Amino acid sequence: MHIDIVTIHPGLFAGAFEHSILKRAVQANLVSINLINLRDYATDKHRSVDDYQYGGGAGMVMMIEPLVLCLEDLQQKRKYDEVIYLTPDGELFNQSMANQLSLKSNLILFCGHYKGIDERFRQHFITKEISIGDYVLSGGEPAAVVVCDAAIRLIPGVINDETSALSDSFQDDLISPPVYSRPADFRGMKVPDVLLSGHEQNITAWRYEQAVNRTKKRRPDLLNS
Ligand code: ADE
Repeated sequence: MHIDIVTIHPGLFAGAFEHSILKRAVQANLVSINLINLRDYATDKHRSVDDYQYGGGAGMVMMIEPLVLCLEDLQQKRKYDEVIYLTPDGELFNQSMANQLSLKSNLILFCGHYKGIDERFRQHFITKEISIGDYVLSGGEPAAVVVCDAAIRLIPGVINDETSALSDSFQDDLISPPVYSRPADFRGMKVPDVLLSGHEQNITAWRYEQAVNRTKKRRPDLLNS
């Protein structure tokens, strides 16, 4: 998979893809990520990418021209499966969207700032608008990292033990069961006996029951969806 991320703050991504699972995915050539500075597509000497909004009102708007010039330039190299805009009024991101994105070959993500981007770019060039939650970030960059992380770890081969990603919370609309590691007894706080029993069937049944109970308690909405 190749991901292009268009931003006015490339520095915000420093280190984001250089650790742990994402680093391994990049090193194994399972994904390549390219940061593009939108200002490189500005058309004036100040490298402006935003301007006042028509009709008045507080807040600047990201102008359509640099956005289109940037997209058209990058499209000469690649055909994108999705042209994504990170915005708080987009479709709420979830595991199912992460699964779908993980199957794509080429993605481009646009990170918004200020009051947002010119509506004409949204209507005519963006194919998918994604929000990572009902709160407003200073810009789309942290959201782009979240979306990339969730999708990249699902690319086959990124996580050694593929069943590990498949048993993540939300993957089957259930929250993950609790997990424990050594020691089996820490200051009287004991690991449930069943996990020490070696009885695989009982362990599987226990984990499923825990997952269902946790989901009922913490996220009942998942059970009704
Ligand atoms: N940009 C600002 N806030 C955002 C959010 N919640 N999700 C995605 N992009 C955003």
